[in-house]
Parts: sequence; C-alpha cells; structure tokens
Amino acid sequence: VPRPGKRGSGPAAGINVVAVFGAGLMGSGIAQVAAQAGYTVNLADVSDKAVQNGMKIIARSVARVAKKVAPGQEDEYVKTVLGNLRPTTDPSVAVGNAEIVIESIVENIELKQNLMAALDKHAKPDSIFATNTSALLVKEVSEKCPAARKARFGGLHFFNPVPVMRLVEVIRSDTMEDAAYDRLFEFGESLGKVAVKCKDTPGFIVNRILAAYNREATMVVERGDASFEDVDKAMELGAGYPMGPFKLFDYVGLDTCNLIGMSWAIRAAQGLVPESMVDPPSNMIPELVEEGHFGRKTGRGFYDYS
Ligand code: CAA
Ligand code: NAD
Repeated sequence: VPRPGKRGSGPAAGINVVAVFGAGLMGSGIAQVAAQAGYTVNLADVSDKAVQNGMKIIARSVARVAKKVAPGQEDEYVKTVLGNLRPTTDPSVAVGNAEIVIESIVENIELKQNLMAALDKHAKPDSIFATNTSALLVKEVSEKCPAARKARFGGLHFFNPVPVMRLVEVIRSDTMEDAAYDRLFEFGESLGKVAVKCKDTPGFIVNRILAAYNREATMVVERGDASFEDVDKAMELGAGYPMGPFKLFDYVGLDTCNLIGMSWAIRAAQGLVPESMVDPPSNMIPELVEEGHFGRKTGRGFYDYS
C-alpha cells in the first residue's frame, strides 16, 4: 500500500514507535501522518471519549487521503493506517516503547510541563521528546524534565490540517544535542513534510509572522474600517490566502487562539516581542470564547456552522 509523502517516505532509522499525547484537532492529525508513514503510533488522551474522538477524526481524514494516494485500494489503505494506531488512556503504556514522544495537548504551560516531567519517568532514556506548541517556548515546556531529557527535547510544530499542510517547523532549543536535533529533523521529513529549522523563539517562523497579520486584521474591524466578512473576502480574493483571517481563527479554534494571544502578552511583558503586538488589546476573540463559541469545533465562532 503506497505511503503519501514527497519521496514516498517511510520510517526514519531507528524509529519504530511514536507516542502522541492529545487526540484533539492537532494530535489526531500528527498521529495520522505518522501512521501513514508506517510508524506504530500510541495515541493518548485523558479519557476514552477524547481518544475515540481523535480516532473518528482520523478515520474520516484517512478516507479522504486514501482516495488520492491509493485509488482502487482505498479500503486496504485505510485498514493499514488505522491498524498502525494504538489508542490508549494510559500514559506509561503510550511512552514505554516509543522512540519519539510528541505532546499536542491544550496550550497551557503548566499542563504541558507536568505531563512531560511525568512521561520522562516512563520513557526510554534515549527517546526524543517534542512539543507541538503554537507559541510557548520549547525550553519552558521542557523545564521540569531532567538535563538528560532536555538534551533530547525539541519542537515539532505542525499546521492545521496536518494531513494536508506540507510544512513542519523543527525547533532547536538551547539545551538540545545536535544528534537528537538531526534525528528529529529526519523524523519530520519521514512524515512526508518539508521541514524547516528554527531557533526557540516566540511563535517560531509561521506564527510569529501570522501574529502581526492577525492583529492587524482584528484592528481593521475594531476601528470600524471593514466588517470581518469583508476582511476575509479581501484577503482571499485580493491576496490569495486560502482562508481569510477570521475563517482561519475559527478553523484553528478560538479557545486555542485565545491561549496563543495570552502568550503574546507575556512575551511582550518580557520584552521578547514589541508591545505594539498586544497594545491596545483586541477583545474580539476573548469575548467569543467567554460566550462559549470556539469556532468550528463548537459550531459557532465568527461564523455560524450549524
Ligand atoms: N484530511 C484530509 N484531507 C483534507 C482535509 C483533512 N482534514 N481537509 C482538506 N483535505 C483535502 C481535501 O480532500 C481536498 O483534496 P482534493 O483537492 O484533492 O479533493 C483538499 O484538501 C482541499 O479541501 P477542500 O476542498 O475541503 O477545501 P479547501 O480547498 O478550502 O482547502 C484547506 C481546505 C486545506 C484547509 C485550505 O482552506 C487551507 O489551506 N486553509 C488555510 C489553512 C492554514 O493556514 N493553516 C495553518 C493555520 S496556523 C497553524 O496551524 C499553526 C498554529 O500553531 C495555530
Ligand atoms: P484541542 O483542544 O483540539 O485538543 C487538545 C487535546 O489535549 C484534548 O483532546 C484534550 O483532552 C487533550 N489533553 C489535555 N490534557 C491532556 C493530558 N494531560 N494528556 C493527554 N491529553 C490531554 O487542541 P489542538 O488544537 O489540537 O491543540 C493542541 C496543541 O497544538 C496546542 O498546544 C496548540 O497550540 C497546538 N497547535 C494548534 C494548532 C491549531 O490550528 N489548532 C496548530 C498548531 C499547533
């Protein structure tokens, strides 16, 4: 059964089992592309419901991929990919035999730090840890892990929808050893992604640049210069973006966008990004989140999907 990927890529040397934590929007996509590349993937979340939700997202998406990469053999392809996945709610089982451990849980620094410190105790000493954080620093996420793990701890930042977006940013933290970084990079490429290198800086490459663009989009609307619908139309039809900024906020998830926004405020206070990125603050996303509207995932955000 064929594998997707730019060179029909398959498993990187010495890596057979991948653990993915968080079976949400991103974790399910990451688990899927790893399973498609031939890895055995332990997919972990906090409850059976969350894990099964991730498996459902994957089943729907693999069926779409199969039509393209395995015409005439769709059922066999889907069966092979799903057969590579091992859903679990037991963290020690998920990491016990994994050579790569990727966290893609909610964008909350304390939850991520505590999870990684706990997983460190159950993981193989030489397995590589990676975070899919949008806007936290890798060195913060790894903070509660021992030095030996920090030497094997990087960032692997994917884009939504993971099965479609071709990029992965591979982040080198200051504590990461060269050999571990090179393996993580090779692993990213083995998923059929184009990998780019970036230092451990706020928002890495894509989100750092998107932050300025997103901020200006909200300011145009808050100044009353244009409606959010017209901003989207303008950026899609006048600048060639596949989705305008407000559709993209809904697609990413307004809860996640809100947490990312909080990170920018912290970075500005630390002097790591200019104050002008967060001052004056925009209330559009926080207000929708307060009302329980998280975008597509809840059926309503800037737009109504019901
Ligand atoms: N799984 C598998 N395939 C999928 C898919 C999924 N979840 N979603 C879309 N596709 C495939 C479809 O099968 C379709 O394939 P064909 O053209 O071969 O039929 C193709 O992708 C296009 O899909 P659609 O026709 O449904 O819709 P579209 O043309 O509008 O494309 C899109 C959808 C790819 C999401 C496109 O709108 C897009 O690129 N949007 C921008 C996405 C983006 O910017 N992502 C980055 C967000 S920032 C981020 O992720 C970082 C962060 O930290 C927040
Ligand atoms: P999501 O809300 O869809 O999924 C998060 C999942 O993490 C949930 O299923 C939740 O149950 C699970 N979880 C929470 N605590 C956990 C724990 N201790 N152990 C295991 N699972 C746990 O969120 P998402 O959009 O998939 O985002 C996940 C991460 O990816 C975040 O750090 C986010 O910033 C980043 N990210 C998101 C996007 C995007 O477009 N949404 C893009 C790139 C990166």
